[in-house]
Amino acid sequence: MADRGIAKAFVVGHPIAHSRSPLIHGYWLETLGIPGSYERIDVHPDSIGRFLAELPRSGFAGGNVTIPHKEAAHRAADRLDEAAELIGAANTLWLEEGRLVAGNTDAYGFAANLDAEAPHWKKGRTALVLGAGGAARAVLFALNEAGFGDIRVVNRTLSRARELADRFGAGISAHGWEAAGALAADADILVNTTSLGMGGAGGSPVDVSLLPDGAIVADIVYVPLETPLLAAARGRGLRTVDGLGMLLHQAAPGFERWFGTRPEVTPALRARIVADLEAHK
Ligand code: ATR
Repeated sequence: MADRGIAKAFVVGHPIAHSRSPLIHGYWLETLGIPGSYERIDVHPDSIGRFLAELPRSGFAGGNVTIPHKEAAHRAADRLDEAAELIGAANTLWLEEGRLVAGNTDAYGFAANLDAEAPHWKKGRTALVLGAGGAARAVLFALNEAGFGDIRVVNRTLSRARELADRFGAGISAHGWEAAGALAADADILVNTTSLGMGGAGGSPVDVSLLPDGAIVADIVYVPLETPLLAAARGRGLRTVDGLGMLLHQAAPGFERWFGTRPEVTPALRARIVADLEAHK
């Protein structure tokens, strides 16, 4: 936390108008009675290097970084936390003795949400992950940490899945999309990290009838809250975990760094964000 005056934080991206982060942090500042601020900043990719270089002298305690600047934040930092280093992207920035530190709380957010919504998830060993982009890297980090020994990454572009398997090492295998059905049969958890289902478009990307009865199905997409995948999984009686919880939980560590108090993800916070999502449909 900044030790002089009111702590200030931000979210930087391009575009940034649709970010829900100001709503989340604003809710915590208000309900915890902390006199801080959290603002949206739109920075063009041409200027992000300068913005990050000037941060230690900006008066900000730190901030969040979103699309398309997560890799730039990773490159610009003087120090990375372990997750940012392995994931290759950063979503949270703070200062330590005037130096810029970049962390990645997406993996934490994914795991903390599962802890809250499906506490038995860590007993699983076998995971099926759809997609091989930035979000998939955070999910793989979390599954690895949680002790999953057999993680199957399925992606439309097989070479991207292979890159991830190489990056994260033992226990991770890469497959083409056509393998998803067969790989689902003994999966303890299925996670969609692709944009499939965003806006409610299309059907379920995987036939959920192929999953075992005890499987958990998680989606990182949160518009709509119940994606076609989650609707199909719920229809089959499986435990489902939506993407909004990950967004809420990933915000907590940053807030604590900048404002000095660990905030809680509560049903009231969730209801506030759900109401905003509904209002902007
Ligand atoms: P993010 O950083 O949000 O994960 P990304 O890096 O663009 O975004 O990755 C998007 C993921 O969704 C990728 O796995 C992508 O598959 P490809 O690597 O083959 O592009 C996947 N994806 C997007 N649209 C898809 C579609 N129509 N069918 C299957 N996969 C799709």
